[in-house]
Amino acid sequence: MQDFLPIKAIDHIEFYVGNAKQAAHFYKTAFGFQSEAYAGPETGVRDRASYVLVQDKIRLVLTTAIQPTSDISAHVHMHGDGVKVIALTVPDALSAFEETVKRGAAPYLVPQRKEDEHGEIIVSGIHTYGDTVHLFVQRDGYQGTFMPGYKAWKSDYNPAPTGIRYVDHMVGNVGWNEMNKWCSFYRDVMGFSQLVSFDDKDISTDYTALMSKVMSNGTGKVKFPINEPAEGKKKSQIEEYLDFYKGPGVQHIAVGTGNILETVKQLKARGIEFLNVPGSYYDEVLDRVGEIDEELADLRELGILVDRDEEGYLLQIFTKPIEDRPTVFFEIIQRKGARSFGKGNFKALFEAIEREQELRGNL
Ligand code: FE2
Repeated sequence: MQDFLPIKAIDHIEFYVGNAKQAAHFYKTAFGFQSEAYAGPETGVRDRASYVLVQDKIRLVLTTAIQPTSDISAHVHMHGDGVKVIALTVPDALSAFEETVKRGAAPYLVPQRKEDEHGEIIVSGIHTYGDTVHLFVQRDGYQGTFMPGYKAWKSDYNPAPTGIRYVDHMVGNVGWNEMNKWCSFYRDVMGFSQLVSFDDKDISTDYTALMSKVMSNGTGKVKFPINEPAEGKKKSQIEEYLDFYKGPGVQHIAVGTGNILETVKQLKARGIEFLNVPGSYYDEVLDRVGEIDEELADLRELGILVDRDEEGYLLQIFTKPIEDRPTVFFEIIQRKGARSFGKGNFKALFEAIEREQELRGNL
């Protein structure tokens, strides 16, 4: 069967934020992103300022409104800083738009051609959960920096990278009983298929529960787990997210590294805060996962979690939310054969999240 929506990669992730200049400084300083491009009043854009940052294959765009009446300021007012756009690089943005809209997607951006002296790109877009959208970016005819309308951003402040290389997966939180609806959306409208599913027996603690299914595109490169809250004794972390994000949205961005020990050491030194796992986790972890290359003492010191599946193992760690609302956070992941998502860590992890929820008075 022919893939009606071939996707080459995640093109970029655009956050709408309250102050893009300061957010850009944070992602450079703390995560080691590099300055790539800028658009704003100086480049002829009147309503916004956007900073484009890269680190290996990851590209972030941080956009803020510079007037109070705009979709961007309304988005920030409602959601706080959060992910607006998950952009996908496609060979044909016109066909991507037509094929998905034909299958029921709500149009967000009708195909647009943008050009400058470096060539042209074609962009189109559709709505997904909440106020989040997917853009389709066709850029093989473009040799310039990021996109027409942007200028290269040369900065004198260039902190070193931290070794994060690619987007491994991006997770969406959706409302009560909406997981299947959105999994169907990714299946029927975008041609994805389901990799795995977790129910509340896999993912529950004394207090909280959630359900999750992982949707993946044809090549397996793009993976979007979808979570919904499940009934627990107290408020689940998904519910807390929905309460503060004011609806569905991106919960976390998992970024891959080739050396998680080095990356996490760097991130910690630069002020990134991670969820703490109890020391007792490390007393039993090797019984569960067997032999690993890393020293257990190093993992314990940094709070890195381990899980194993039939194909290998993985190392992962989760940041605390990176804004004041308890909403979006990052995961750092290193895969050593495993293609799963750390199911064996869910319980330890959720207990750690609950301790934070408790401190915020939201449990
Ligand atoms: Fe994850």
